[in-house]
Amino acid sequence: MRIFAPGVLADRVALITGGATGLGYAIAHEFAMLGAKVVIISRKQENLDKAVAGIKADGGTAIAVQTDVRQYDQVVAAVQAATSTFGGLDILVNSAAGNFYCPTEDMTPNGWRTVVDIDLNGNFLCCKAAFEPLKQSRFQGRIMMIATSNSLTGWPGQSHAAAAKAGIISLSRSLAVEWAKHNIHVNTISPGPIKDTEGVTKIYAQRGLADLQARRVALGRLGESIDVANAAVYLASPGGNFITGADLIVDGGRWLNYIANA
Ligand code: COA
Repeated sequence: MRIFAPGVLADRVALITGGATGLGYAIAHEFAMLGAKVVIISRKQENLDKAVAGIKADGGTAIAVQTDVRQYDQVVAAVQAATSTFGGLDILVNSAAGNFYCPTEDMTPNGWRTVVDIDLNGNFLCCKAAFEPLKQSRFQGRIMMIATSNSLTGWPGQSHAAAAKAGIISLSRSLAVEWAKHNIHVNTISPGPIKDTEGVTKIYAQRGLADLQARRVALGRLGESIDVANAAVYLASPGGNFITGADLIVDGGRWLNYIANA
């Protein structure tokens, strides 16, 4: 459901990594519907084409730049495309992520490295590349990174992603203080299990755990992509003007429910 006023993100330029599918697409689409010009980056051109077409069909403004967030030169080129096409950059959403279920004793060094490279190192590279234009933002620059509370409790079978996401929360807090003097706000969003995302499909549904996972959420159900997109809009909008260094948990009470009922 659209809950924010049309135009609340007018004149902002937002770059969304992993913005062609899943939560990244939901965020990009909602930002565009609320007036932002969006730049979506992802590895697969066919996903990018579909995403841009979807946003444009609904009346939004979007471009795509095929980018692997592990490649700094590609990330820099994507940021340059944003500034040269739309005249600046106001919001960066780091949503690109990779994950797979694998007990740690079976994980290869390259499997570990791949997930940490995408999830943690990719976040750093995107923040670094976006720093200069975000500093110039007339709306106070915003960075949002997608984390998970599973990174704080530990995440058996996903130790690589958990370690990377814990690193993201730490990176976000360091940058929140370092870059406050430039009026850049840096926050994380920690979603719980969200319906119809690749993460839930790979980690839970394909292993027959989707119903169990929904029951573990205090609210008793999986979330919707729009729940996460609305949290991102709030942080990107003037509603987030005094929020930095926060972790906005959008998980229906899942992580507290684990602890409370352990
Ligand atoms: N179980 C165990 N190891 C796995 C694996 C699995 N399911 N999937 C990949 N790996 C290992 C590979 O074997 C490889 O290690 P090796 O060279 O020692 O054999 C390593 O991970 C890299 O795999 P590769 O497929 O080359 O990497 P990639 O860059 O093409 O893909 C992934 C990255 C693996 C994270 C892939 O799942 C991906 O692209 N995911 C993006 C979408 C996603 O995961 N979304 C959910 C986010 S929550």
